[in-house]
Amino acid sequence: MALNRRNFLAGLSLLAASSALRKGFEFEDFHSLKALYKDDFLFGNIITGKQLEKSSGPELELLEREFNALTMENDMKWQLVHPAPEVWHFDPVNRFMDFCDRHGHQAIGHVLVWHSQTPSWVFETEQGKPIGRQQLLDRMKGHIQTLAGHCKGRLYAWDVVNEAIEDNGTFRKSAWYQQIGADFIAEAFRTAHEADPSAQLLYNDYNMHIPAKRRAVVALIRSLKAQGIPIHGVGMQGHIGLDYPDLNEFEKSIKAFANEGVKIHISEIDIDVLPNPYRSAEISTRLNYAPWKDPYREGLPPAVSDEQADRGEALFKVLLNHKESIERVSFWGLADGMSWKNNFPIRGRVNYPLLWGRNFEEKEILRRLRALKSQ
Ligand code: XIL
Repeated sequence: MALNRRNFLAGLSLLAASSALRKGFEFEDFHSLKALYKDDFLFGNIITGKQLEKSSGPELELLEREFNALTMENDMKWQLVHPAPEVWHFDPVNRFMDFCDRHGHQAIGHVLVWHSQTPSWVFETEQGKPIGRQQLLDRMKGHIQTLAGHCKGRLYAWDVVNEAIEDNGTFRKSAWYQQIGADFIAEAFRTAHEADPSAQLLYNDYNMHIPAKRRAVVALIRSLKAQGIPIHGVGMQGHIGLDYPDLNEFEKSIKAFANEGVKIHISEIDIDVLPNPYRSAEISTRLNYAPWKDPYREGLPPAVSDEQADRGEALFKVLLNHKESIERVSFWGLADGMSWKNNFPIRGRVNYPLLWGRNFEEKEILRRLRALKSQ
């Protein structure tokens, strides 16, 4: 039989498949994202309490096969884990940590202190008045001690504080800031470290490419370090679009943070393909629906799918250039139908921000991210 290119390649893959079987794992493992990027950074995704109640299915299969780091999408947020003063819902958290242990994922805690998805009772007296600095500090510390204490030794990292800085570089005027002052951040990191000394502690935020925000985050890192408070990393969320942000500015922020001696986590990537006048991830924002803002209800045109793949590839080239500083790169969801971006910042649209399509079919962007490391 003549050895043409086609059967040569077929022969090669048979060979690879049989040697993989001999070694006791499946052929797919060779081109899983976690295997392809294993010398670069952890490759992560998110999981929900609902998914963790299932024992099998395509979602769990993909999470096991492709990723080696996991974050809970919502179930460790104050509103869900600690909805009332004496009520704690640890079941999903325990299932999460057990799942990560069983399948060799690094577990990421998200999130200890945030202005969103925190119940209003936290900030108020029984009469509905602001509770004031000392009592709010006590509540915040109590929450951190209990939650981070519960997870002690089992998490790779904690998002300690989320989104405390505005795009213009000033502190967000959240209830945390207004009632405690800017030192709520230092107090949160200090308490988290006491509760779980082995977890990496991260400051996490969106729009980290904006120069004023970059400068403010650098100043925050310096100030915490000057006070002897441990901050080990910065989470750059990465809710991006086809034409924003400027990747050069994003790269400058990676460099600026790495120069401060902290690790970078790209914590929440999705690539929005819909018209989006609102370039932020402040989750309370909602804009009005209009059909022209929802142009791909019947499917993603191949040209846009290619554009998204180009964008993903460009982003990953930047990330690979800085792999020494980057500890983890996580997507914020698996399949397009599951993404929060179908409802943010406009409810009820059909968006395509992730690596798998609505029926778990592999998208062009996923093929490109694999190809980038298979050449
Ligand atoms: C989002 C979740 O994906 C949604 O299910 C939820 O309704 C709102 O929050 N920045 C963060 C994440 O740090 O926690 C947010 O997750 C997305 C923006």
